[in-house]
Amino acid sequence: MELLNNTETTHEKPNIDKIVLLYSGGLDTSILVKWMQDYYDAEVVALTIDIGQPDARLDEVKEKALELGAVDAVAVDAKEEFAEKYISKAIKANAMYQGQYPLSTAIARPLKSEIAVEVAKETGADAVAHGSTGKGNDQVRFEVSMQSLDPDLTVVAPVRAMEMTRDKELEYAEENGIPVPNDVDSPYSTDENLWGRSIECGILEHPEEEYPNDIFELVQVPEDAPEEPEYITLEFEKGVPIALNGEKQPLTSLISELNDIAGKHGVGIIDMTEDRVVGLKSREIYECPAAITIINAHHDLEKFVSTTHQNSFKPSLDQKWAEMAYQGLWNDPLMDNIESFQENSNQKVDGTVRLKLYKGEAKVVGRESPNALYDHNLATYKEGETFNQEASPGFIELWGLQSRMANHIDEK
Ligand code: ARG
Repeated sequence: MELLNNTETTHEKPNIDKIVLLYSGGLDTSILVKWMQDYYDAEVVALTIDIGQPDARLDEVKEKALELGAVDAVAVDAKEEFAEKYISKAIKANAMYQGQYPLSTAIARPLKSEIAVEVAKETGADAVAHGSTGKGNDQVRFEVSMQSLDPDLTVVAPVRAMEMTRDKELEYAEENGIPVPNDVDSPYSTDENLWGRSIECGILEHPEEEYPNDIFELVQVPEDAPEEPEYITLEFEKGVPIALNGEKQPLTSLISELNDIAGKHGVGIIDMTEDRVVGLKSREIYECPAAITIINAHHDLEKFVSTTHQNSFKPSLDQKWAEMAYQGLWNDPLMDNIESFQENSNQKVDGTVRLKLYKGEAKVVGRESPNALYDHNLATYKEGETFNQEASPGFIELWGLQSRMANHIDEK
């Protein structure tokens, strides 16, 4: 089978009849609903997916798409699927791209792609479209995922083909009676879901400048956070959080509640320069209060129940997982291979972690687990210790054998 890249290029217009568009209701995708009908001479189905972004008023968005001329508008609440199938894997992987970014935008792309491909099948569309630009990671994630899922679909990237500046977009919106959202003057480009919020552009493109405090929606900056620390507990079962402060709840609501609590204490602000898949370096700000808190807690508990060998080996796989998730390779078989390992190694990650939230930090201050490899009687320096110190000298003699030899070899 020949699997060509089925993505349009800017100079070659594909022949299509019906396109499913990932539609957010924002300016770009609103313009696309209209623009694509004219440019491709095709019908447009608007697809809106709720993964916990604040403006996900599905009914309203649906109505707006129909007003803009979409032949159909489909709204999908995918919050639970996002939490159960995507976020929970990221937790088990302690997922942090380049050690800092919990991949909140990145892991949502393959889910959106999967749903778009399904809706294309259901509505008899021969193409899918996303609203990402030609400079970012998202185009890569969408197109690689969609084409892995269904190589017969044509993937169109109209923002690349349309080549409109912001001013041109506004002009086009006015000419075509497309309502312009209130935040259109914001200098920032943002993306949000349950796992966090990404902020780019404007002054943030100057990596030497500190970010302004008014860019945040989920966190209060540490300077304004409460003067008193707040203690919370997170209970985990097989590597996934199941209760917050003793209250069992689904992962979706646990994450939203934790976003509020940890956000109030300024937890989860990330300021980093990041290596994009397309080669660019960019400066990114993220606010991910729940993600940072949960991953801190998970990582701590995982180390508590795993052997030293597991603890030294797993981070290399976790790092590979994060890179592949970031780079749009969610559907590559290696991801499944790594996830099998992570699933298996998380079987014992049960227990409760206590954290102290204070002025931007979510610090683990206590942990308990029925599977802990910690034994107080072994560890204590007090009476009643069971560790056999008599065994230490012999162990040390053999443990250091090669190092001793290597350091003194020329003295022989
Ligand atoms: N740089 C991040 C990533 O690639 C965030 C992208 C956010 N997208 C946006 N439209 N602001 O995952």
